[in-house]
Amino acid sequence: MKIEEVKSTVKTQRISSHSHIKGLGLNENGSAIPMASGLVGQEAAREAAGIVVDMIRTKRMAGRAILMAGPPGTGKTAIALAISQELGNKVPFCPMVGSEVFSSEIKKTEVLMENFRRAIGLRLKEVKEVYEGEVTELTPIETESPMGGYGKTVSHVIIGLKTAKGTKQLKLDPSIYESLQKEKVDVGDVIYIEANSGAVKRQGRSDTFATEFDLEAEEYVPLPKGDVHKRKEVIQDVTLHDLDVANARPQGGQDILSMMGQLMKSKKTEITDKLRKEINKIVNKYIDEGIAELVPGVLFIDEIHMLDIETFTYLHRALESPIAPIVIFATNRGRCTVRGTEDVVSPHGIPMDLLNRLLIIRTLPYNRKDMENILKLRAQTEGHNLNSDALQSLAEIGTRATLRYACQLLTPAALTAKVNSRSTITKEDITEVSQLLLDAKSSTKVLEKYKNIYMK
Ligand SMILES: Nc1ncnc2c1ncn2[C@@H]1O[C@H](COP(=O)(O)OP(=O)(O)OP(=O)(O)O)[C@@H](O)[C@H]1O
Ligand SMILES: [Mg+2]
Repeated sequence: MKIEEVKSTVKTQRISSHSHIKGLGLNENGSAIPMASGLVGQEAAREAAGIVVDMIRTKRMAGRAILMAGPPGTGKTAIALAISQELGNKVPFCPMVGSEVFSSEIKKTEVLMENFRRAIGLRLKEVKEVYEGEVTELTPIETESPMGGYGKTVSHVIIGLKTAKGTKQLKLDPSIYESLQKEKVDVGDVIYIEANSGAVKRQGRSDTFATEFDLEAEEYVPLPKGDVHKRKEVIQDVTLHDLDVANARPQGGQDILSMMGQLMKSKKTEITDKLRKEINKIVNKYIDEGIAELVPGVLFIDEIHMLDIETFTYLHRALESPIAPIVIFATNRGRCTVRGTEDVVSPHGIPMDLLNRLLIIRTLPYNRKDMENILKLRAQTEGHNLNSDALQSLAEIGTRATLRYACQLLTPAALTAKVNSRSTITKEDITEVSQLLLDAKSSTKVLEKYKNIYMK
């Protein structure tokens, strides 16, 4: 199993509509502060989410499942994201939407399995022999290419490493020079090189350079203590899915046809059940030996009612597995038919046997005051000015339609204000855009009224 080269495959997500949310906003006793960390109201649900976070932190929750249920726009997705913020980036959090499982290329259960494995972390601790220090010199030594001609190749590279205790000059293989370049190592960076594999890890810029005008995103680290050459505990966080990907082979056999096929196709890797079993075996061995620690994370499946009976059955079984993550579902459905069945009607569109296992967190519609506060927060995050009349009318719209619709009106309203060369959004802007852009309820009314002029 290759561990060194495992790349993280964390999904990037666009959560711009939730960008104001920074956490659950609870005090140390776990009670909700009315307005904190970007969350407003919905106290009971936030406190319940706080308990979930505690259980995850103390690792008492693997294989359990939670359902967030409530009407549209009541903050279910927002609270789930707040949970992930509270957990920090060491605990894997894998968000997905129920409808993601329906793809023409991949089996439904395969999609679920992949996401399950994205939500299970593994922390690998290894004591390794390393050379660590601040880079004081980095000189590639070139020679004439052995192939002749005019080309030159790097024969070796001289690197100087400094720690608080001393400095050392190393002569390294050209292959390490490549990894140095890949990590963009420069003089003044703190790095370590693994003695066995030659893998290079850049830890950051030495803090003696912290006063320099430098890129803002730079991380400064202190000059390492001890010798340059030492044994060091290296910690690496990966998910089971990262391991699957790193160990998957491009698909196809050995014959000429499939090799041709591979040339045509972009390199596609296949993760088979067999590979997963293999990896589980090795992971278990590592855990027994104390090299690795399992970090069960969170799998968040939004709009769970989009799943069908087949995937629900699979989910049910997957939850029983000894290495299951915590699963959080969200839905805004009431009683409805379970997808993929003719007539099984069930609360939230979830089969009863699965529903029985779930702990349910309820979200309630917002009152006018909360609505106002959330809209104010959103306006701030998006950088819009809003006078109080406009806010009132927006909150009014929010109570009539949904909070999400009211949030979405902000940007168009800011545009109309700009067209009228104002920097503050007024009530007129809100009225104008709300007449131009309908919400679902009004649109349904329009459809009802003019149904005879629409095509059936
Ligand atoms: N308590 C809250 N505090 C601050 N912002 C909130 C709160 N609740 C919801 N929001 C914001 O309101 C918008 C709608 O909320 P969200 O998307 O979480 O609703 P939802 O319950 O997931 O709805 P749906 O059922 O339609 O998926 C989002 O931009 C969200 O960030
Ligand atoms: Mg949602």
